Amino acid sequence: MKKLKEIREQAILNHVPVMMDTGMSFLLDYIRDHPSIMKVLECGTAVGWSGMMIAGVRDNITVDTLEIDPVMYEQAVVNIKEAHLDDRVFAHLCDASLYQTNQYYDLFFIDAAKSQYAMYLEHFIQNSYIGSVFIFDNLNFHGMVDHPETTNNRSTRQMTRKILRFREKLKLDPRFETEWHPEIGDGVMVAIRVK
Ligand SMILES: C[S@@+](CC[C@H](N)C(=O)[O-])C[C@H]1O[C@@H](n2cnc3c(N)ncnc32)[C@H](O)[C@@H]1O
Repeated sequence: MKKLKEIREQAILNHVPVMMDTGMSFLLDYIRDHPSIMKVLECGTAVGWSGMMIAGVRDNITVDTLEIDPVMYEQAVVNIKEAHLDDRVFAHLCDASLYQTNQYYDLFFIDAAKSQYAMYLEHFIQNSYIGSVFIFDNLNFHGMVDHPETTNNRSTRQMTRKILRFREKLKLDPRFETEWHPEIGDGVMVAIRVK
């Protein structure tokens, strides 16, 4: 069995942007502390590492994980099979914002295209219930959201503005109770649906 640690190391060597350690520890602790979390939807599979880490918390957890890039998706499918998690971690090759399902999820872990977070939220709210949790990663975008002057790249600046707008809007969104953790990983926001 390919160890998850090796998968992560390989991903980093290949410049695949996997979740930071502190962000992952936070996410796993959160799931551990909430035994009712059993059905998880992840946007942004990459090579399957985070989806498998989530499934590793408890045997009763299943993960649907969505990936737009066919090369990543193929690698994830191989990794998931080699880790013998293919009965609980299901990778889907698709644009997350177009994925249709009638399933309800306890937890949504959002880690795909940062500029589309608002779209994913509106798209998947129909698959949530009062009490479902959305966790978003990379809301600092390597410090650039709060310090856009550190990049001269126009499209990166545009994206950081979008992330900032999303962050601020979600904090005020009456449908959710939010916790903002700028110090964890690359900035993690937890939003619990209350309406
Ligand atoms: C930050 S990586 C995910 C890392 C992974 N969650 C982990 O920590 O192991 C983001 C992934 O989202 C994928 N992605 C980007 N836009 C997407 C979309 N619209 N739908 C699905 N996946 C998307 C990218 O191809 C990339 O593999």
